[in-house]
Amino acid sequence: MTAPAPCIRIAGLGKTYPGQSLPALQAIDLDVAQGEFLALVGASGCGKSTLLRLIAGLEAPTSGGIWLDDAPVTGPGPERAVVFQDYSLYPWLTVLENVRFCRSLRVHTGNASDSQAASAVERSYALLDVMGLDAVRDHYPNQLSGGMRQRVAIARALMAQPRVLLMDEPFGALDAQTREVMHELILRLFEIERSTIVFVTHDVEEAVYLASRVVVLAPHPGRVDGVHTLSLPPPGERHPDLKLAPELLQWKKTVLERIRATSGVQHDLDKLNRLAELSRRRTPT
Ligand SMILES: Nc1ncnc2c1ncn2[C@@H]1O[C@H](COP(=O)(O)OP(=O)(O)OP(=O)(O)O)[C@@H](O)[C@H]1O
Ligand SMILES: [Mg+2]
Repeated sequence: MTAPAPCIRIAGLGKTYPGQSLPALQAIDLDVAQGEFLALVGASGCGKSTLLRLIAGLEAPTSGGIWLDDAPVTGPGPERAVVFQDYSLYPWLTVLENVRFCRSLRVHTGNASDSQAASAVERSYALLDVMGLDAVRDHYPNQLSGGMRQRVAIARALMAQPRVLLMDEPFGALDAQTREVMHELILRLFEIERSTIVFVTHDVEEAVYLASRVVVLAPHPGRVDGVHTLSLPPPGERHPDLKLAPELLQWKKTVLERIRATSGVQHDLDKLNRLAELSRRRTPT
């Protein structure tokens, strides 16, 4: 049996920001399969957001390239939706208007038929229902909790039925309990929508609980340290109890060890020890 064709192909990808001597990303080779849930983790500054923005077409690479179904990515497109940590909702629009916003642009430009417009309306109601946002659909973002705002942002991203959902620390600003709820929600949505998801997070437990593969990036310059294929049930079949299961904790340990080994934390501890040593010397006895 031949392996399925990758949905996203990344080859020889490099990115150096103007005025920077060190590349943010160097020689990245990575394939993401259609319908895969892939997590990107790594120390701060290792290039996770840069990689996501390159896939989204919001940044241009300085070397190599990215292909979506064999077509080179040259800019943003409706088949790729992005969810950022800071919700990025339009404060002057209600929940329902936020969710429908991109769709309405298409309606206004005359590119949508009546039946398309009607099914878009139906989809916006169905998404708000799934997200538990029915009761607040006429509220404005500043009247919502952080968890609700992020659910609106996800509903909006899903509105156009993107093939690829790109998420940059989407639950990073949420409290632990809301985060747990969001984990179950995103897994159920993944099952229903069958999008390909690339998910950036600092939270290793979140990465191993949600994804089927975890990519660890190493910093300075940003590069792939390793790709871990998790021997766990498929994401759609996971249950919160798995968070305490030995096999998940083992993966968490493996990934954390790689992040620690590549993050330069030891270097920082050496600096702290040096400072402590100097402080001790100055303390009068
Ligand atoms: N617009 C920019 N201009 C110049 N340098 C940038 C820019 N954006 C990011 N960088 C640099 O590129 C490197 C990678 O940054 P990036 O934001 O992709 O890392 P990250 O892994 O997402 O970090 P974090 O975990 O803190 O969000 C960093 O050294 C950062 O300073
Ligand atoms: Mg980032």
